[in-house]
This record gives sequence, structure tokens and C-alpha cells, in this order.
Amino acid sequence: MSSALYSKYNVGSKTKSSKVPLKFKINSSDGMYFGNRNGNGASPSKKMKLTENGCANGNAKRAISFGTINGVSLTDTKQKNIQEQRQRLPIFEHKSKIIQLIRKNKTLIILSEAGSGKTTQIPQFITAAKIHDEGRIAITQPRRVAAISVAMRVAQEHGNGLSVGDYVGYTVRFEDVTSKKTKIKFVTDGMLLREAINDRLLLQYSVIILDEAHERTIHTDVLFGIVKKAQKVREERNLAPLKVIIMSATMDVDHFAQYFNDCPVVYLEGRTYPINVHFTKQPLEDYQTACVATFFQIHKQAPPSDDVLIFLTGQEEIETCAHQIRLLAKDPEVEGPPVKVYTLYAAQPGTQQMAVFNPTPYGTRKVIISTNIAETSVTISGIKYVIDSGMVKTRSFHPSTGLESLKIQRISREQADQRTGRAGRESDGICYRLYTRSQFELMNKSSIPEIQKANLSSVCLQLLALGIHMLNFDFLDKPPLESVEAAFQELKLLGAIESIESTNLTPFGKKLAKFPLDPKYAKILLTAENYGCFKEALTVVALLSSESILLNPPSRREQSQLSRQKFNSGYGDHITLLNIYMAFENIGKDNVKNWCQEHFINMRNILYVREVKNQLKEICKKCDIPASSCGGDIDQLRKCLLAGLYMNVAELHKDRQYITLDKRQLTQIHPSSVVHGQLPHYVIFTEVVQTTKCYLRDLTTLEGDWLNEIAPDYFKSINFRSNGHI
Ligand code: CDP
Ligand code: MG
Repeated sequence: MSSALYSKYNVGSKTKSSKVPLKFKINSSDGMYFGNRNGNGASPSKKMKLTENGCANGNAKRAISFGTINGVSLTDTKQKNIQEQRQRLPIFEHKSKIIQLIRKNKTLIILSEAGSGKTTQIPQFITAAKIHDEGRIAITQPRRVAAISVAMRVAQEHGNGLSVGDYVGYTVRFEDVTSKKTKIKFVTDGMLLREAINDRLLLQYSVIILDEAHERTIHTDVLFGIVKKAQKVREERNLAPLKVIIMSATMDVDHFAQYFNDCPVVYLEGRTYPINVHFTKQPLEDYQTACVATFFQIHKQAPPSDDVLIFLTGQEEIETCAHQIRLLAKDPEVEGPPVKVYTLYAAQPGTQQMAVFNPTPYGTRKVIISTNIAETSVTISGIKYVIDSGMVKTRSFHPSTGLESLKIQRISREQADQRTGRAGRESDGICYRLYTRSQFELMNKSSIPEIQKANLSSVCLQLLALGIHMLNFDFLDKPPLESVEAAFQELKLLGAIESIESTNLTPFGKKLAKFPLDPKYAKILLTAENYGCFKEALTVVALLSSESILLNPPSRREQSQLSRQKFNSGYGDHITLLNIYMAFENIGKDNVKNWCQEHFINMRNILYVREVKNQLKEICKKCDIPASSCGGDIDQLRKCLLAGLYMNVAELHKDRQYITLDKRQLTQIHPSSVVHGQLPHYVIFTEVVQTTKCYLRDLTTLEGDWLNEIAPDYFKSINFRSNGHI
């Protein structure tokens, strides 16, 4: 594009060659394989070049389609195509070398560019070679969407008409699609951590692959320590050995290798094609509009087979951008082929997420607008252009304000490079970065690991359930002491531990740990019997633990809000959601689809809430919580919510502002809340959104005199008197 908006530089291989051989580098001093991105690892004195036979030709483009969960039945031709695709993956031809390395080492780190075939192929290599054949293989994924989609893909590749849940299965929160036959199990990192509570040595597994390690999610970070210990203890006790494999997109790996007792590292240099990278010449104020504008500049010139991937931060931005592109593409004044727009974000129904892999008709351009999911977790073929907004939405906890918020911020340089890399998987590519070169240089080198910025109470509770005190845990990078203290403080307030030095959970704490939930939500369920509102509390907690059931398409914002107005409650958003869910339960099975459409409800998500509810109910039964219902007496439910969430209370201050009682932080009610404009005196909040201001979203109103009634010790400790004065 010859726009004056951009300056330009090149990344990727310097030569125009479209094939770069894969390399292993041998460090002859210890006979181990070692390497890093630039080939200047620990003095490699001997290089082994493995030449490449396959070729990444453009024919592989758009050849991916998915079967259904219940029965992947493929024709022979499709199966043949799939096998051909597998064999074209950079990793494939090094199968025997990789198997040899895995067989030889009890711990191994494998690095390669995203899309080389690690996640889908390595588990199959291991089963084919019958390495540690006695147990299962677990492969962790930080995201549900990746765990499910990869399991489906591998089940397809494995063939023989088997469906997901047979030989290949997956376990994500509230969904277990595995059976006794399952040998290869994709599992979210959070779920594997939960499994460790009941099976500390993870004895059902003979191989554990911790995948996408570069993402450094809090659960993967904790699992590093858990599997390392399980491996050691199993060895000491002469139990079946555990093989540990850490897989990651390319990154600085020394730190990892050191942590895993200097284990060997194998770097697979994938095929990367040259990518032209363009920066803006000036900093931009509105990256969202710039995404749309940049897309149409590409669209005007590029052949229809060149697909475009746009990185934005979240559902709302992505849907707005998708809407604008769809609208403008239809404008007769706009030049370019027909466009098919796909979106990809966590809160989206799974079927829609899978749709991004669908082929588009010949002569139609595909554009995918995604969050950072498409950075490394999901690989979509056919991408020639990447537009990078340079922004990401992350959740961070601030011990000083006690608030955990969702904030849009700049990505790291490593993330920027991963995004750029998505344009060069199959041929030369082009990346437009919607920031200047100096803005890029000011970005952090890598993202801060989640463990260093998240609320730790949930993980702290899980570690205690494993008999481990967080301060004694063998972390790759330690969390800040301030956050650990805040977590122990919170667990003490919830009644999970006697004191902040405790290494044991109270009986109540043990019950809390049984729930795959934020401990505050688990407390709501465990105290519901005191308020006789179990049924309602269960529904609200299930709603809060699932993706949003509300659809708010930007083009029909008013219409969607009007259609749901009849459910609005003056008590706030939680009760409004409860009203919607109860109405949904009362409609006949045949009308669900229409009803959801009419009320702008995400059908898949509301059906999922029902699943979550059932699963939580089972856990509650085991904890002997009697079922009860408060019927129309909503005050009971409001009090019960307060019993779990009293740390999340804010009080009306001045100028329509609210102040949180816990850490005296100034906030406002988010305009999307049903009580926005009502100025209730006290509110409970469950979501904090940080943009230019700090907003509270998802609220329930409260009566001031309930505070001391329900959590007297806590409100005494923060010096709060129920007349609203301190
Ligand atoms: O793990 P890594 O990023 O190295 O690659 P992978 O996830 O194993 O993906 C290898 C290839 O498999 C991708 O380039 C896609 O073509 C294909 N794939 C797919 O079709 N569907 C998925 N859900 C995952 C991968
Ligand atoms: Mg992968």
C-alpha cells in the first residue's frame, strides 16, 4: 500500500527463498540438543540440518473443515486430504527425531513458530511411538476454544470415524468430553490444576504436555511447579514415570530450561516467509477506525484470495468493526471483491468460533477480526495481511485498590511479532501496525506473567487444598508479596483459613475449594441455605460464571435493549439476569430459538448456563446444601449475594461517583447497567471496567443497614458504620 500513513521495514528471512530448512542444533559438550531463535545458543559446535521435503504451497489454503462433536464421519477423500495437510506441516518430517528426543528425556522443551504443528502432531507422535503407553497424555491449553477446536481437529486426523470423546477427548470447565477409551486428552490448564487436587501425582497421566507456555497464564505457571514435583515424587516412590513436555511459540527460553533443571531445549525453525511491516508515521488516536480504513485500502488492491486478519481487543470493538466492514463492503462506491467477515473472541458461541476455519467461496475475500486468541492459540490458513491495533484487553488486580479490572492496554513487542508472524505462514505477507516505530520501541519486551498481576485468592485456595502454602511454592517467577498477602486476607475473611499464616483450610475452606469458581461465588452457594434462596443463588452464580447471555449488536443496540426491558429490575443487573433466565426456563423447548432471537439472547450461552447450573448443583449436593427457593422475596437473594461479595460494595459519594468501601477507590456506574442513573445508595459489583475512568458494571442495590447485619466483623475491620459515615 502506498499510503503516506506508513513507513516500512522488513522482517522474516532476508532471502526471497520460500523454504527455510528446519534445524536442530547440537550442543556437543553434554550431548543434549540446544538452540535458540538466532542459533547462538550454548555454543553449538555441531549443526544438524534436516532438509525439508514438503512444501507449504497455497493449495493447503482453506482446506480445513470441521466435523461435529457427535460423530466425525469423513469420506476417504477428505481423510486423504487431511493426511496430506499433516504431512506438509513443518514438524512432520522430523517426526522420528522428535520421538527420539522425547523418548530419551524425561523433561523436554519444544519451541517453534505458531502453526508448525506442535499441538496437533506431538501427542499423536507419542501415541504412535507408544512412549509411556500405560497412561494418558494430557495437553493443556490456556483457552477453551483452543482445547475444543484442537481436540476436534486431532480426532478428525486420527480418523476411523471416531468422534471426540473416544480416543481423543477434551475437558474444559463444566464440560468433560472424554471416556475410558480416551488416550489423548486436551484440557484447559485450569482444569488440570483442579484434577491435581484429587490426584496430586497426576497418576492417570504418563505424559503431560504444558502447551502455549509463552502465554504464562496463572494456571500454567502453577502447573509448572505441580508437574515438576509430581515427576520427582513419582520417581522417588518408584511409581510409573511422568514425562513432561513444555511447548511454546518462540521466546527467550533459558529461564524455563533453568527452572526445569537444565532440561534440553529443541528449537524447530519453521517456515517463515518475509513479511513487510509498516508502521504509522504518526501516533493514531482512533485505532478502531484505522483498522477499518486500512482494511479497505488493502481491499481495493489485493487479489480476492488474500485474506486479512485484524487484531482488536474485545467483543464490542470486534463486532463494531465487523459491522462497519460488512456495511461498507456492500457500498457500490467501494472497490473490491465480495467480503466474508468472521469474528473470533472468547465470549462467542463455539460454533461461530469454528466458522473462521470454513472455506469462503472462490473470489470472496475472508477477513477475520480477532482478539489475541489468533496470536498463537488458533491458526487459520490463508492469511496474507495482518492489521495490528497494538492493543489488548487484560485483566489485572491492583492490591492497593483491591480491584480487579479489565483494561485495554498496549501489547508487548513479543506479542506484536507474533501477530506479524501470522501473515507469513504460507507465503510472503504484509503487516500494518497501527502505531509508530517509536511507540513499538517503547512497548514492554514481553507481557507480564499473569501470576504477577492477577488476584491470587482462587489459586491460593487451590494450592492450600493441595497442602501447599503459596509462599513456599516453587514458582518460575514469584508473585508479588502484596498480592499473596491480599489473597490470604481475602481467604481469611471468607472463612477458608483461620489466620493468614495457616497452611490448612478450615472445613468451610475445604468445601469452597471443591467449586471450580471464584471463592466469593462459592461462598454465595454455601451460605444460600441461611437465606432460603438456593435456587436463585445457583442461577445467578451460574450466570456470572459463564459468558454473557446478552447480545448487543451495535447496529441494533436500542432494539435489543427494548426487547429485554420487561425483565429489567430496579434491584440491578444480577436480578435482571435472573429474570431473563427464569423466563427462558418457562418457554417450551420448541420455542427456545425464537425466544432467544426475539430477546437478543445468545442461545448457546444460555444453554451453557443451564449446564453449569446442573454441574454446580451436583457439587452442592455433595456438600449437603439443601435446595430452597425464596420465590418473590428477592431481598433474601440480595442479602445472600452480599454474604459472598461484601468486599465488593460501593457507596454513593458525590457528583454521581461511587467509592468502594474496601479500599476507598473512586468509581462510577457503567452506562450499560440497568441502575445507571438511579443513584442507589449502596451497590454490590461483580465487574470493574477500566477505560479512561473506572466503571462498575453488573450491580445489585443494597440497603445500608444490611452491611453490619451480614458481615459485622468485616465492616468493623474497615471502620464502617451503617449510617454511611466513617
Ligand atoms: O501448535 P502449533 O501452533 O505449532 O500448530 P498446531 O496448532 O498444531 O496447528 C498446525 C496446523 O493444523 C495449523 O496450521 C492448521 O492448519 C491446522 N489446525 C486446524 O486445522 N484446526 C485446528 N483447530 C488447529 C490446527
Ligand atoms: Mg499450539
